Amino acid sequence: MRMTVIGTGYLGATHAACMAELGHDVLGVDVDEAKIDSLQAGEVPFFEPGLPEVLTRNLEAGRLGFTTSYEQAAAFAHVHFLGVGTPQQRGSYAADMTYVRAVIENLVPLLEGEHVIFGKSTVPVGTAEEMQALADSLARPGTSVEIAWNPEFLREGYAVKDTISPDRIVLGVREGSTRAEGIAREVYATPLEQGTPFRVMDLATSELVKVSANAFLATKISFINAISEICEIAGGDVTALADAIGLDERIGRKFLGAGLGFGGGCLPKDIRAFMARAGELGADQALTFLREVDAINMRRRDRMVQLTKQVCDGNLLGHRVAVLGAAFKPNSDDVRDSPALSVAGSLSLAGADVSVYDPQAMDNAKKVFPTLGYADSVEEALRGADVVVLATEWRQFKELDPVAVGELVDTKIIIDGRNVLDPVTWRDAGWTIHALGRSLDKASA
Ligand code: UDX
Repeated sequence: MRMTVIGTGYLGATHAACMAELGHDVLGVDVDEAKIDSLQAGEVPFFEPGLPEVLTRNLEAGRLGFTTSYEQAAAFAHVHFLGVGTPQQRGSYAADMTYVRAVIENLVPLLEGEHVIFGKSTVPVGTAEEMQALADSLARPGTSVEIAWNPEFLREGYAVKDTISPDRIVLGVREGSTRAEGIAREVYATPLEQGTPFRVMDLATSELVKVSANAFLATKISFINAISEICEIAGGDVTALADAIGLDERIGRKFLGAGLGFGGGCLPKDIRAFMARAGELGADQALTFLREVDAINMRRRDRMVQLTKQVCDGNLLGHRVAVLGAAFKPNSDDVRDSPALSVAGSLSLAGADVSVYDPQAMDNAKKVFPTLGYADSVEEALRGADVVVLATEWRQFKELDPVAVGELVDTKIIIDGRNVLDPVTWRDAGWTIHALGRSLDKASA
């Protein structure tokens, strides 16, 4: 099937390459010329394991191309995926819908014949219906444009797998729709043959599925982080607790990783946009708990800074702090709303001599926070450190040898912000180890 994918950021570039991998003829479209040039040259402008190979393979096979021309997009296919960003608006919790609207405004007047646009972006409920009305008002006489919603659930770091073999495909269609479901079945024929659940529903529900999923995940993380706060005071161990409650099938262990909390380009902005939309709909009370979810999450960053200060005898000034990690999670170079970078920044602003190292996110971190100290290697970051803060659980950090690392630092104190180090091994190597969600006294015993 021929299709365009409009917006070639994280979601769109992955979707375009993966749809070509499934055998379709795909044209990726973006207004950003540099992005298009880079993708056309086979270079992925962000770090995503496996994606460069998929991109190159399909460019070479002639199934994938990129353009900045909407005219070309309109002529190329009758099926279009919309994957532009919906960032948080400045000074508001609400999502900025400028880019979604711009796609409809630019594309629809150029279309001829029967077209279906599948929205993939995460949007406030009601958007698809609004975009349908906009498309109807812009379509040429004799042209029909149907808007359907097909939310994307991909995780960074696993984007290729999540797109090619997702755990479910959700499709929202308008009442009386005749074309969208059939086309979606053809587009996703391969995963559907493999038994991927396919849920067809109305537009509003499909929009809500996405934000509800992210709100649930954020709530689960903040739940365990709230328990963490209690563990720290009461002398409990949040990791042992999570292991124990996670054995209950109804609860499950996934997303009970206590620590610095969630960040990235989705969870934080999606829960805020969901609250804003609930307010617009007159149901603000329904989601006030998400304000608490957000607050718990942000408190973890403060707690990390406070803990670091505490181990530096109450004064960060002049202390050298090695911060391991800048990305919002491992296997990503994304620093959007990154807890790691936020902690590094706060420590630096409080007077610490911060040295940050991340295996992939250095360039992005330097752009966002140019005034921080950056090291070229983990060893360089650790050299002479008074305290080490593990902020992103990259495998390289989890596998650090406490004995070898002990030779590099000035003082053997480490704070595990992700609960991934074995306290016994580190203590045996002469370290004082602290962790979020474990009693400070016990941890340093
Ligand atoms: C998320 C959703 O998982 C995905 O379905 C959606 O499409 C986009 O948003 P992503 O932002 O890639 O994906 O990251 P995810 O793996 O969900 O992690 C989000 C954040 O939560 C990270 O900062 C991670 O470190 C944190 N996290 C995750 C925890 O703090 N504890 C956990 O147990 C799990």
